[in-house]
Amino acid sequence: MQLFKSVVRGVGGYLPPKCVKNIDLEQSLATTDTWIVERTGMKQRHVIEDNQNTSDLASEAAKIALAHAGINACDIDLIVVATVTPDHPFPATAARVQAKIGASKAFAFDVNAVCSGFIYALSVADQYIKTGMAKRALVIGADAMSKIIDWNDRATAVLFGDGAGALVLEAVDASNEDYDRGVLSTHLFSNGSCYDLLYVDTANASNKQAGHVKMQGREIFKYAIKLIGEAVEAVLKNNSITVDDIDWFVPHQANLRIIEGISVHFKIPMKKMVVTVDRHSNTSAATIPLALWEAVNDGRIQKNQKVVLEAMGGGLTWASALLKW
Ligand code: ACO
Repeated sequence: MQLFKSVVRGVGGYLPPKCVKNIDLEQSLATTDTWIVERTGMKQRHVIEDNQNTSDLASEAAKIALAHAGINACDIDLIVVATVTPDHPFPATAARVQAKIGASKAFAFDVNAVCSGFIYALSVADQYIKTGMAKRALVIGADAMSKIIDWNDRATAVLFGDGAGALVLEAVDASNEDYDRGVLSTHLFSNGSCYDLLYVDTANASNKQAGHVKMQGREIFKYAIKLIGEAVEAVLKNNSITVDDIDWFVPHQANLRIIEGISVHFKIPMKKMVVTVDRHSNTSAATIPLALWEAVNDGRIQKNQKVVLEAMGGGLTWASALLKW
């Protein structure tokens, strides 16, 4: 029996101030603004400073989400950070966030599911809340992809940006009027046999070089259309709903052509898709909470509306979720 539901109480986002436009990349790479816009829809991306880390992005997003929720950091029981760019191999970036925001009673750990990471983290936090093990949770997607990009590789360097987004979840029981809201379902999938289509190669300790993103872009593109389609099918079927019942689709922002492909396949009007890829590029685990933050702030996403999240990323991993906001 499900005792509690996870209701969203707050959302926050943070983008580092430095903004790199496509024409800036033309200076250092054999690329053009036209190629990037036509192939990806991306026009710019935000990039972290050398002295900043993923936990700095995550902490800023968390503070904004907590303020939006009207909840103090010391009342948070659980922090889950989805990231592939932790400050250090250990401890978890979530532990650094816990210290930075003063969430002294929270237990904290990271989840790595690459671009699907936010939905995985949401699902993990939801399980703790449903069972009563946590009453309030911070779910954060945060990545500093600029730290693991080979800035000389035009095939990947133009695609990514840095940022963080966060949700505050709170447990409500069946006596609460919000019990029909919150996280209605999550659907997680993995296929590790395709890991070599998108991975980070091993860091080179002798010359202190970080590992870099390696991607077979065309193959990943094909998988993205197929697997995101499967994830959307799963969320619709599991909840016995159709596309018409959904108010907003918040897709992972890897490429505008992938988002448009899903829109055409499922006959979802593009005006129902929350799109940030043009301004944020692919911020990995942060794309979905950043898009939620934007659409809540500008008034598109309203209380009681149904919102579908979907993503696909390295692993391969893919995932979807249905929220009643
Ligand atoms: N500027 C100019 N030319 C370029 C660039 C660039 N930045 N990058 C590649 N090219 C060239 C290639 O060298 C190739 O040249 P050639 O024809 O002479 O060999 C040509 O452009 C076409 O390259 P493709 O890789 O076939 O281009 P494609 O149309 O597939 O677009 C892209 C590439 C944008 C990467 C696309 O495949 C894509 O979006 N893939 C999916 C990425 C994705 O979804 N990632 C999600 C997961 S990310 C995560 O999990 C962290």
